[in-house]
Amino acid sequence: MKPRALITGIGGQDGSYLAEFLIARNYEVHGLVRDSMNKPRLHLAGLGEALTLHRADLGDSNAVGALVASAAPQEIYHLAAQSHVADAERDPTDTLRQNVLGTLNLLEAARRLPVVPRFFHASTAQIFGQPSQQPQDETTPIRPINRYGQSKALSTELVRTWREAFGMFAVNGILFNHESPRRGLGFVTTKICRAAAAIRAGHQQELKLGNLAAVRDWGDAREFIVGFWQSLQAPQAADYVFATGQLHSVENLLEIAFGAVQLDWRKHVVVDQNLLRTTDPNQLVGNPAKAARDLGWVARKPFAELIREMVYAAGAEA
Ligand code: GDD
Repeated sequence: MKPRALITGIGGQDGSYLAEFLIARNYEVHGLVRDSMNKPRLHLAGLGEALTLHRADLGDSNAVGALVASAAPQEIYHLAAQSHVADAERDPTDTLRQNVLGTLNLLEAARRLPVVPRFFHASTAQIFGQPSQQPQDETTPIRPINRYGQSKALSTELVRTWREAFGMFAVNGILFNHESPRRGLGFVTTKICRAAAAIRAGHQQELKLGNLAAVRDWGDAREFIVGFWQSLQAPQAADYVFATGQLHSVENLLEIAFGAVQLDWRKHVVVDQNLLRTTDPNQLVGNPAKAARDLGWVARKPFAELIREMVYAAGAEA
């Protein structure tokens, strides 16, 4: 019998890479896409019979119960979320519904299966808010400073409770920023890399951005999803930080992306006050030592290589 996995958020960057990774390892994969998603992303095409797509609203406990019972997975990867920090500020109610209620419904449905599946939850560095300790690890206090971080702090605590009080094999991957050519359009890496390619091609003149001094710990999503899988193969369930441990600024990102197409970003970038965030954590940098020690997981892709790859992929599409 093939091992069976259920991935929520399979239409996104991490979900689609994880589906490919698991199918290459002979898994049967069930994927949940949003009710509203008419056409799942193209890169899910071609995965063949090993992939079954389902539509359900994670906020609907009956629908989630039926989905989990019919897929009967051994592993659940809960990646679906409202994951745009700025969007969460605009719609905190929907963010809580998707991120907290969705996680609760899925944990409950999993616990009711005759054989309880292992459960991975995509948590985030944003649960740490403005931490006094750098780098952050699994023991850093959870003190979110924005609505997205708050919703994920609650879902992270749910997963911890289901592990510690109810004995479920449930893992929080505390994910620092991770990017790829499949990263969504609203995130700063994609926005910059696509703009660099479009300006080079003459399709765009300028790029409006928020805080150029913002710093992040940016890794490669294709490496992160391997860590998700490894965490569910470990002898014991625990939380893990997945990060590179390196900080870069938006300005560094601009230098590399525009440099890749021989442009000077200073001639094209305009700071737009509307894109500044009132509460934007700075100094979020992760210590992935526990994942390295327990799982053998290490982030290897150099930042500049990742960004250049994203620019060239955007150029090829332009
Ligand atoms: N999106 C965006 N757009 N960000 C900008 C812009 C802009 O025009 N200008 C500057 N930034 C800055 C943001 O203020 C932030 O400091 C940084 O660039 C990165 O922004 P995002 O790419 O939107 O990611 P994020 O760090 O807010 O959140 C991502 O990482 C989290 C993990 O640390 C998301 O993937 C979250 O879902 C994830 O949990």
